[in-house]
Amino acid sequence: MRILFFGDIFGKPGRMILLTHLRDIVASTKADFVIANAENLADGKGLTEKTLKPLFAAGVDAVTGGNHLWDREESHDFICREPRIVKPLNYPKSAPGHEVYTIRKNGFELDVISICGQIFMPPCNSPFEAFEGFLTTRIESRPLFLDMHAESSSEKRAMGWFVDGKATLMAGTHTHIQTADEEILPGGTAYITDVGMTGSHDSVIGVRKEIILEKLTTSVPRRFETSDLGLMVNAIIVEANPDSGQAVSIERLRYKVEV
Ligand SMILES: [Fe+2]
Ligand SMILES: [Fe+2]
Repeated sequence: MRILFFGDIFGKPGRMILLTHLRDIVASTKADFVIANAENLADGKGLTEKTLKPLFAAGVDAVTGGNHLWDREESHDFICREPRIVKPLNYPKSAPGHEVYTIRKNGFELDVISICGQIFMPPCNSPFEAFEGFLTTRIESRPLFLDMHAESSSEKRAMGWFVDGKATLMAGTHTHIQTADEEILPGGTAYITDVGMTGSHDSVIGVRKEIILEKLTTSVPRRFETSDLGLMVNAIIVEANPDSGQAVSIERLRYKVEV
């Protein structure tokens, strides 16, 4: 079975990339499952029903969140109602949303979970304890997808070793910058520190670069605006054995597109 995962989809340009190109990308990668990180879907800040539904209609099977998942207060109800949105496992139980979603497709099954890092991130519980807790309460064992949403590459690397042999794949997100360290770990887990962002790359992680440069050079806060220049797909395609849950290959996708 083949799993296609897009890193943080940033704003309207990121959404347009998927709406315009997803069908072709699925055909060329022969993907069975399509997952995307959607914490920046609505102008970089959270997601809304209006911004997410077209992606589901276009063929996305499930989305993961992150620290920005709840930025839109008006969407909390939707996040509770929509099981295909997966919130980080190590946030309080009272935070709106579901912790795991099982995709059943093409005769295969895949559990989708997400965990946030603690280093240089908003407060959350231990990602390691949360993963262990998830495994102990799991009733059925099936192939497992983990989005490790974290700033620190060391924390993501450590989590990779922690879940090796237990998850089919661990894909890092949140930095919006793709890393070139994809590999299959010894226990059979496909790993990458960060998948990167699907959106504008002639920007500073999705925001118009002039705004961030002015903010950083003057130390005066500025209102962020989504950039639409230099659009790129940043994703991975992973092949896995559906019976053992072990990964066979991982390949990075990173290329320019127009919408
Ligand atoms: Fe993000
Ligand atoms: Fe994030």
